[in-house]
Amino acid sequence: MKQQLEEIHGAALRALAAAHDEAAVDQVRVAFLGRKGRLTDVVRQLRDVPQADRPALGAYLNEIKDDVDRRVQESLATLRAAARARAIAAQRVDVTLPGTRPARGRLHPVTQTLEHLVDVFVSLGFDVADGPDVEDDYHNFTALNFPPDHPARDMQDTFFVADGHVLRTHTSPVQVRVMERHKPPLRVIAPGATYRHGDSDVTHSPMFHQIEGFMVDRRITFGDLKGVLTLVVQRIFDPSARLRFRASFFPFTEPSAEVDVNCQICNGADATCRVCKGTGWLEILGAGMIDPNVFAAVGYDAEQVSGFAFGMGVERIAMLKYQIGDIRLFFGNDLRFLRQF
Ligand code: DAH
Repeated sequence: MKQQLEEIHGAALRALAAAHDEAAVDQVRVAFLGRKGRLTDVVRQLRDVPQADRPALGAYLNEIKDDVDRRVQESLATLRAAARARAIAAQRVDVTLPGTRPARGRLHPVTQTLEHLVDVFVSLGFDVADGPDVEDDYHNFTALNFPPDHPARDMQDTFFVADGHVLRTHTSPVQVRVMERHKPPLRVIAPGATYRHGDSDVTHSPMFHQIEGFMVDRRITFGDLKGVLTLVVQRIFDPSARLRFRASFFPFTEPSAEVDVNCQICNGADATCRVCKGTGWLEILGAGMIDPNVFAAVGYDAEQVSGFAFGMGVERIAMLKYQIGDIRLFFGNDLRFLRQF
C-alpha cells in the first residue's frame, strides 16, 4: 500500500505540474482529494489493512494528503497572482503622458472691445444703462427730435416691426429713457446692439454695436465733450491718439460733430491703407450738445441744464484696434478668426 501511495503522490505532482490554469488545478484537487478522489479512496482501503500497520500507513497517507493540498493551494495562489499582475499591466496608466486639455473658450473681439470701453467710462464715473432692442418709434425717433415724416428718418435704414415699433437704429433712445426717469446731474453710457438694413460690406453689417454716452448738468460745454472723448480714445488706443471734430448734423444735437481718430494702422502714411483709405482718419463716433427739443421731450428746462451726447461704433473701434479689414469677419463665426483674440 505504501508503494501505491507513493505512486498516487507522484501522479498528483505530475498532474499539478501540467495544470496551467485555476480550473485545471481544481480538477487535480477533485481527482485526488475530492470525495471520490484517489487519496480518499485509499482512506477507505485502510480498513482492510492489518491493525498493526494502520497508524504508520495512516500517518504517511496524511502526510501525502497535506502535501498535495499545500501544493494545490500554492499553485492556485501563484496563478491568481499572475492573473492579477496581467490585469494590472493591461490597465496601466502612464501618468507622465501629457493630457488632453479641454478647449477653452474666449470672449469675442467685439465683446472685449465693448467691455474695455465700458471699463474706461466707468472709471470716469459713468453709470451703465440698458434699453430694449425692439424700440418704439417715439423713443427711437420722435423724442430725439426727428419730426414725423421728416427726411432725417431716412438717414437710418430702419427695420420696422409691428405696431409702431422698430429694431432700434441707434442706442440714442436710451438717453431719452434714462432722462425720463432721472433728474440731472447724469453721467451715463448705454452699450448695446443696433440694427440697420442695407448692403453689408467691408464697413457695414445689419447688426452692430454702439456705446451711447451723455452727460447732463449745469454748464456742461463742448469742451467737456472733447475732454472726455480724447481721454477715452487715448486709453483705448494709445496715449498719442488724436481726435478730429468735423461739423455735422444730427436732429438730437446742436451743434453736432462727426469725430475721427487718426488711423491707428498707417497713421496717414500709407496712401493705399485699406482701413482709412489713405486719408489718415477714421470716423468712430457722432456727438454734439443735446438739443433743447430733446430736453423738452423729457421735461428738463434747457435754460437750467446743458449736456453733451455721443454714440460710437464698437466694431469700428475693434477694427482699428485689432487691424481688421472687414466688419463681416466679426459675424462669420469662423473659429480660425476668433481664436486670434
Ligand atoms: N445716434 C447716432 C447714430 O447712430 C450717433 C450719435 C450722434 C449719437 C450724435 C449721439 C450724438 O448721442 O450726440 O448715427
